[in-house]
Amino acid sequence: MNDQTKAEWHGAQLDFKESMSYGDYLGLDQILSAQHPLSPNHNEMLFIIQHQTSELWIKLMLHEMQAVRQNLREGNLAPAFKMLARVARIMDQLVHAWDVLATMTPPEYTAIRPYLGASSGFQSFQYRQLEFILGNKNPNLLAVHEKSPEAHAILDRELHAPSVYDEAVMLLARSGFAIAPERLAADWTRPTQLDESVKAAWLGVYQDTEHHWALYELAEKLVDLETAFRFWRFRHVSTVERIIGFKQGTGGTSGASYLRKMLDVVLFPELFALRTAL
Ligand code: HEM
Repeated sequence: MNDQTKAEWHGAQLDFKESMSYGDYLGLDQILSAQHPLSPNHNEMLFIIQHQTSELWIKLMLHEMQAVRQNLREGNLAPAFKMLARVARIMDQLVHAWDVLATMTPPEYTAIRPYLGASSGFQSFQYRQLEFILGNKNPNLLAVHEKSPEAHAILDRELHAPSVYDEAVMLLARSGFAIAPERLAADWTRPTQLDESVKAAWLGVYQDTEHHWALYELAEKLVDLETAFRFWRFRHVSTVERIIGFKQGTGGTSGASYLRKMLDVVLFPELFALRTAL
């Protein structure tokens, strides 16, 4: 047996007939066989993988955000900070991922457009769950998921649950800040609205950071996350304009004009409003 055929290479295990390999552990057979271009066009693979990898990262963000919410509820701020920092970095990475998709030109997209039917990121169940957990609730959008009872049930539960930001507001109240009772018993199915008592509380935190360091750190972590999300929204609409101009979206909205309106969404209104008062 020469060096090329030995069942050994620099000490690495080469025989996985009896043990778990990298691909087994990661389920790569399933993941790597989930790309099914419908058009004959070369560029559809980019389109598919860009969406699939985004969905995987969204899955991780949801995993982290659910744990952040639980930790805030239990007053465990240190692990929540670590997770919030991770989610903001994931979002940053997704912001940069648009550079890859931007290599797709209008004629390349036009070649695959007829094969996409009415499918659109607008129907991303995980993305909607992420918006909901961040407080951007919209009951109307549940209808999209009626076809999948499991996804619908998860979204419905998320719609009715306090968001991560609602938990932060409850933490402010437990820390001694006077939060309006209506805010603490809000209708969780509605998107976050600016509340003067919450704004005053955060202002108190920023005006005395020494005494409220943990809440101050929480606020800044949330601002980091929202800022990264805003960049994602901006890169999405810019990439869409670059590729399809102002054509209608496959999901049926006005396209870039709809996405531009989404740039006005403010997830944590008081954290931005208080800055004018400082
Ligand atoms: C050529 C690439 C893309 C185009 C032309 C495009 C276009 C659009 C358009 C026009 C909409 C508005 C809804 C509609 O009418 O369809 C939309 C929504 C959306 N897209 Fe994309 N998109 C692209 C890539 C992506 C990628 C890579 C993702 C990553 C997951 C994504 C995620 C979303 C999400 C989550 C929404 C819903 C946004 C909301 O409701 O606020 N899109 N897209």
